[in-house]
Amino acid sequence: MLVSAKEMLNKAKAGKYAVGQFNINNLEWTKAVLQTAEEMKSPVILGVSAGAGKYMTGFKTVAAMVSAMVEDLGITVPVALHLDHGKYEECYQCINAGFSSIMFDGSKYSIEENVAKTKELVKICEEKGLSLEAEVGAIGGEEDGIVGAGECADPEECKQIADLGVTMLAAGIGNIHGKYPSNWKGLSFETLDAVQKLTGDMPLVLHGGTGIPEDMIKKAISLGVAKINVNTECQLTFTAATRKYIEEGKDLEGKGFDPRKLLAPGTEAIRQTVREKMQLFGSVNKA
Ligand code: 13P
Repeated sequence: MLVSAKEMLNKAKAGKYAVGQFNINNLEWTKAVLQTAEEMKSPVILGVSAGAGKYMTGFKTVAAMVSAMVEDLGITVPVALHLDHGKYEECYQCINAGFSSIMFDGSKYSIEENVAKTKELVKICEEKGLSLEAEVGAIGGEEDGIVGAGECADPEECKQIADLGVTMLAAGIGNIHGKYPSNWKGLSFETLDAVQKLTGDMPLVLHGGTGIPEDMIKKAISLGVAKINVNTECQLTFTAATRKYIEEGKDLEGKGFDPRKLLAPGTEAIRQTVREKMQLFGSVNKA
C-alpha cells in the first residue's frame, strides 16, 4: 500500500536523517528503487515528473503499476508515490489517479497566488490523507542549454507557506537540477538556517541532489533537510552502464536480442546509486 510521506518525513526530521526521493522513468527503474529500499530497510519516495508520467502513458498507469508492484514484490517499507514539480492542474490529476503525495510548484507565481493555490491544495490533501510539498524560490537548472543559478528563497515567504499546513517545504538555497556548473557557489546555509528557524519542525526538501558534495549534504540534513531528491545521478549511472554493455558487445552475446538482459546492467547501476544515497542520507534501517 502506498502511504503519505508525512510520517516518514516527520520521523526523519526528528531523527536528523533524510528520506531519498528517487525519480522513476519506467518499470525497471521502479523495481530497482523499490527492491533497494526493501534491501536497505529504508522508507522511500518515488518521484514522478509530469514528463515521466506522460512517457509512462499517464499518471493512472503509474499509480496502478507502482501500487501493484509494491504488492507483488512484497515490499514492507513505507513507499510514497509523489508528483514532482506539479503544475496546479497536474496536482488534481495525480490526486485522482491514486498518488499518495504531491508537490505543487507555485514558485513561478507571485507569493499571493502561490499562497492561494497552496491553501486550496492543503485542504484537499488533508481530506484525502495525502502529503503536500510546496516550493518557495525557484530551483535553478538547465533550460535550452543555459544553466540558471538557483534562487535563494525569502525566509518570511517560506514561513507564510509553511503556516498553511503543508507537509514539507522546498526552499531554494542555491540548489540546481542536473549537473552543477564549475563556478557554482555552493548551498546557502545562511538561507537554510534562516528558513529552518522560522519554519520550526517543518521538514525541508533539498532538490537537485545530484552532484552536491557529501559534506554539504550532511550539513543540510543537520540544518533541517528531511527529504533529498535525486534524479540525474540515476540517469547518468543507468546510461553509462547500458552504454558500456553495448560497447563491449555483450548485447550481441547469446541470443543477442533479449531486452531484459540489455536493461539489466543499467538497472543494477541504479540500485547501487540508490544504496549509496540511502547510506549518505542516513535512512538505512529507518523503515
Ligand atoms: P537532480 O536531477 O539534480 O538529481 O534533481 C532531482 C530533483 O530535484 C527532482 O525534483
